[in-house]
Amino acid sequence: MTVLVFDDAGAASRAAADKIQAVVKEAVGQRGRAVLGLATGATPEKVYGYLVRLHTLGELSFHDVITYNLDEYYPIQPLDPKSYRSYMYRHLFSKVDLQPQRTHLLDGTVPEPFVDEHCAEYERWIAEDGGLDLQLLGIGRNGHIGFNEPSDRSVEEALALRTRIMELHPVTRADAAREFGSVEGVIPRALTMGIATILGAREILLLATGAHKAEAVKLGLTGPVTAKLPASLLQSVAPRVTWMLDQAAASDLDRTADTP
Ligand code: GLP
Repeated sequence: MTVLVFDDAGAASRAAADKIQAVVKEAVGQRGRAVLGLATGATPEKVYGYLVRLHTLGELSFHDVITYNLDEYYPIQPLDPKSYRSYMYRHLFSKVDLQPQRTHLLDGTVPEPFVDEHCAEYERWIAEDGGLDLQLLGIGRNGHIGFNEPSDRSVEEALALRTRIMELHPVTRADAAREFGSVEGVIPRALTMGIATILGAREILLLATGAHKAEAVKLGLTGPVTAKLPASLLQSVAPRVTWMLDQAAASDLDRTADTP
């Protein structure tokens, strides 16, 4: 895996936006469209800010971009300000020339008996669009990616996980309390792309900033490959993965990482 360490979160986010711009230009040039897997949370907010700036400067068009988000709370209404649909609208979709019908998120309003079919449909849509050119990821303090939480599964089983409904891990619920007002108020379930879905992307870019991510970053990069720390599963597709870190998130690593 490639590891790039930047001075601060702004520089790491800028580099992530530049990478996304390059992938979009290359994919649109080669195939007439680019398919991006997008992430939410506090970490990528600056990335979307830079992408909007590139768009405003006339340096990046999303006209031929198709997007698939990683995850969504369940159940949740799209207009709920805490939904990832509304997050994406606020930070990116309303500010660039993405075509609304090309932006996909898992649907927090699907009736429960239809959830499995909806998740399978989401996988089919990604495949029919030719797969993900790039998947942007954050990382949870417990090493989750998307809402793929730590588990006791075998590595083989974890690597085969597809899009599905999940129970949030206590650490994830504690972290989400800042958006929901309290731990008790956090919606306890979510729909998430699976590990196999994520690892199917042609390139994977994991962005992590802040000292609170340092331990998960170290374990994900240098620890054993285990479903107990889902980000470590990225090691199984190492040549396609780039980690972009700020100094704080990289602070537990031996300084053998590449510095740009
Ligand atoms: C959330 C999301 C993840 C995200 C992670 C880290 O629960 N489901 O996709 O990467 O946790 O979030 P943050 O960037 O706010 O620390």
